[in-house]
Amino acid sequence: MLRSHDDQVKELLGRMTAEEKLGQLQQLTWTGDTGPGGGQTAEIEAAARAGRLGSVLNLNGAKWTNDLQRLAVEESRLGIPILFGLDVVHGFWTTFPIPLAQAAAFDPAVAAADAEVSAAEARSQGVHWTFSPMMDVTHEPRWGRIAESSGEDPYLSAVVAVAKVRGYQGPADGSGLASKDRIASCAKHFVAYGGAEGGRDYNTVDVSEQRLRNHYLPPFKAAIDAGAATVMAAFNTVAGVPAHANAHTMTTILKQEWDFDGFVVSDYTGVAELVAHGFAEDGAEAAALALTHGLDMEMVSTHLADHGAELLAAGRIGMDRLEDAVARVLRLKFALGLFTNPYTDESAEITGPTAATRAAARAAAARSMVLLKNDDAVLPLAPSATSIAVVGPFADCADQHGTWAGPGRLRFETVSVLDAVREAAPGADVRHSGADPAMAAAAARAADVTVVVVGEHSGLSGEAAARSDIDLPDGQHRLIEAVAATGKPFVVVLVNGRPLTIGGWLHAAPAVLEAWHAGIEAGHAIADVLFGAVNPGGKLPVSFPRSVGQIPLYYNHESTGRPYDPVERYVSKYLDLPGGPQFTFGYGLSYTTFATGEPQLSREEIAVDALARGESVELTVTVSNTGERIGDEVVQLYVHDVAASVTQPVRRLRGFERVTLGPGEERAVRFRLGAEDLGFWTNDPSGTYVVERGRIDLYVGTDSSASARCELRLT
Ligand code: GLC
Repeated sequence: MLRSHDDQVKELLGRMTAEEKLGQLQQLTWTGDTGPGGGQTAEIEAAARAGRLGSVLNLNGAKWTNDLQRLAVEESRLGIPILFGLDVVHGFWTTFPIPLAQAAAFDPAVAAADAEVSAAEARSQGVHWTFSPMMDVTHEPRWGRIAESSGEDPYLSAVVAVAKVRGYQGPADGSGLASKDRIASCAKHFVAYGGAEGGRDYNTVDVSEQRLRNHYLPPFKAAIDAGAATVMAAFNTVAGVPAHANAHTMTTILKQEWDFDGFVVSDYTGVAELVAHGFAEDGAEAAALALTHGLDMEMVSTHLADHGAELLAAGRIGMDRLEDAVARVLRLKFALGLFTNPYTDESAEITGPTAATRAAARAAAARSMVLLKNDDAVLPLAPSATSIAVVGPFADCADQHGTWAGPGRLRFETVSVLDAVREAAPGADVRHSGADPAMAAAAARAADVTVVVVGEHSGLSGEAAARSDIDLPDGQHRLIEAVAATGKPFVVVLVNGRPLTIGGWLHAAPAVLEAWHAGIEAGHAIADVLFGAVNPGGKLPVSFPRSVGQIPLYYNHESTGRPYDPVERYVSKYLDLPGGPQFTFGYGLSYTTFATGEPQLSREEIAVDALARGESVELTVTVSNTGERIGDEVVQLYVHDVAASVTQPVRRLRGFERVTLGPGEERAVRFRLGAEDLGFWTNDPSGTYVVERGRIDLYVGTDSSASARCELRLT
């Protein structure tokens, strides 16, 4: 735990002036040119020399960070080193698939691989701290930041968050943070940012206590338990109180209930935005409210540094709270080893991707892809194909980095699908055309098979990128229809950062591969899947709605008093649309086929008291490969508490395992169910978790519509 440094922290704190304490809570953004010859902005340099600068974001490079670090360490009175932070969300030099894609792998090793590579590259470049993992559970495909999330399920989001935290930091006790290939993580955005109304970024989130605690908080609790060193506050309100000054979430839950010993950083100007929220009259009040209610470091806006002295003198902020915040920041700096080794070894800088990191990114991307449709076994493409057309606006696109890619996006192109197909089929005549439907159709007519690459450019993903319509943009469906009209075989490859409404053309496409924004090795990974070098095994971490009018639409929904029925009129449904999503959470096909047996329980019932004592139940299910080729299946376990004092989702994912099976091979998959899987948080604001007596239905299968069921009775 970071508290192991508290003796050193206390000694240093005792020597700091009030101005120096306030300065440690200030993070400024680098605005200069990080290239050769770039200068440090005057404000940052002056603050560094004066010992009034806790952290800088958006500066990387061993030399550039060392130059600034030298001002703080060698010229300021106490020589407290600066913490350098950067958004290393899915890669620094080596861009991995976007986080939503990584979640689709249903394999935490994929997220861990990204974090390990990213941490080594970033630390070698003078970056100590990443603003990642983002773990905002969301039901909103209109929201651009769904691309950065792990989707609509708290359990999957928690598994991915833990893998990332460990990959960045090492052991949960923080003992690895001083290593040259580790960086501090940041669990963001605290909390419920994914609930933004209408999917419009920064928008209102009005959420019940039970939804907050059962749906949005679990990934953060898992990340904190895994040792996440920092947390970032969210831009939104939580039940009317901005997250940047929300004592219930930041102090009561995060710091008291969870005993979090790291620090909370604001989001970009988030403290200043308390005025726009209508929560603070001016910057001084915003700083006072934020610090008092649990925020520790202010990113970019400077109200705490500007008004802190007067706020202290007026008793509007307390010295105890101020010193607690500073102690939290100093703890991390000691844990990172910055007081003993504040500089980065310029001779050991990693300056770009290597063959090994590219291979890791390529494997991660292929493992993240989801086969949505494959009629008549159009896929995998026959190696004997003599002529292949690769068409569409993204066929030869060299920017598949996706949103929030690191500095690598500025220096390294991504492998295009066109180049990769040419490499994969050297004997074939590979033709290319772009976005024009007629030219695509002409290319398709002349080819044995056509690869249609459509989707979203990266700018339609990420922050401030909400879309009111989630069809393929710019009429790309017309290109698909033109190719379909030729009657020749084709496959659609989607390169996108969110679920899309694809029902308009889905019937016309023999095969559809969801490839996401797949990173630096996108083309190679797509070709690996298209030609069968990799048998796709990913699953959807988000529902794909049939229409934008259905949103919010998610698998872990409440039953309602009148659940959907295709025939009944007076039930929860639309008059003009079939019920349910186009594709459900957990769905994904393979080039082979699998079967799962009936679930078997180690016991039919268990006392809630036994669960409270830590006893558990084991569920076993057999999965077999009934096809002709080796492949992966993700066996999923869902829980449904059929009658509870707070109505429960009809399905809640509480276990998954991705298994690789050869033709004819079968395997028993085991899940353990304990109190943490069978209970829920109530609406009690002080936090009450209950496991109630009664029937629990357990479902196992290969997506969230799994029907194989068994009953567990809690007594
Ligand atoms: C942005 C994002 C946040 C990011 C921060 C620093 O506004 O909301 O996720 O880490 O600013 O770039």
